[in-house]
Amino acid sequence: RERVTGSRARALERVGVDGAGAIGGGILEGVAKAGVPVVVRVISASAVYCGRARVEASLGNAFERGKLQTAARDAAVERITWTTDLGDLAGCGLVIEAAVENLDLKRTIFAELDVVVGADTILATNTSSIPVVDIAMASARPEQVIGVHFFNPAPVMKLVEVIATERSSDEVVATASTFVADVLGKRVVPSPDRAGFVVNALLVPYLCQAIAMFDRGHASAGDIDDAMVMGAGHPMGPLALADLIGLDVCLSAAESLHEEYADAFYAPPALLRRMVAAGHLGRKSGRGFHTY
Ligand code: CAA
Repeated sequence: RERVTGSRARALERVGVDGAGAIGGGILEGVAKAGVPVVVRVISASAVYCGRARVEASLGNAFERGKLQTAARDAAVERITWTTDLGDLAGCGLVIEAAVENLDLKRTIFAELDVVVGADTILATNTSSIPVVDIAMASARPEQVIGVHFFNPAPVMKLVEVIATERSSDEVVATASTFVADVLGKRVVPSPDRAGFVVNALLVPYLCQAIAMFDRGHASAGDIDDAMVMGAGHPMGPLALADLIGLDVCLSAAESLHEEYADAFYAPPALLRRMVAAGHLGRKSGRGFHTY
């Protein structure tokens, strides 16, 4: 499994991840469990401490649930190299950026990566709402830039959207898609570089409708969620899901859809804006539509 096969696809023997938040942590855990050495860059020593604790706790949970043997857990931990120096990503064939949803920050990271990584390195962004091409054009090698969009919680969710921009090369798309499918064991859905890709273009309007419904007093948060779990067979209700995703992430995805399609249907509900402004971001802040 160390070697990736597939037409036009190259082998990736070392992967970099920039950022170890909820999604970055899940991505790097998956790479390490798949047997591939992974270098993780975070911004500070305290971020190393928090990121490592979160990933090792998650691997520990898998071990306790009997999903991972002791040796496999220890080997996965050993495969992860933590750093605060972007230069340590130099030897990676693929670098996945999983920083916060901020275009300027992502463009800065891609411009800096250009200087440190090898000529063949594929640069991928896990953005859920920014047009990938806007990030790619900060790089001097936009043909080597793509989107790889993982879902929360990344260790569990089977899907990855792979986004080719107008500039991405076929070989880069094939290499990244083969790695995600064959090494990480995910289902790849090729997605256009359009706001929301495939999943969020359908999911985010639904979440926004649920938030607007709650705001109108149509039903309580618990009732809306129970209705969709028990009446529609969803694994969790829309307000609990918005809390899981992060209300700031939901807001930026809704803004991106609204901007792209210029249709009031996609406008983020006022309550979502107010909650984000108030710092109620869902699970990660302890409070959203529910309390954690
Ligand atoms: N990390 C690792 N594993 C986790 C986990 C996490 N954060 N959360 C749950 N799991 C694992 C559990 O350990 C458990 O594993 P086992 O079956 O091996 O024991 C399994 O997932 C099921 O978990 P639970 O029994 O605790 O709870 P559940 O059955 O209610 O499932 C859930 C939890 C997987 C989150 C499920 O409710 C679900 O699928 N919810 C929908 C999630 C979803 O839609 N995500 C996509 C959001 S959109 C997005 O992320 C993209 C974007 O850009 C906004």
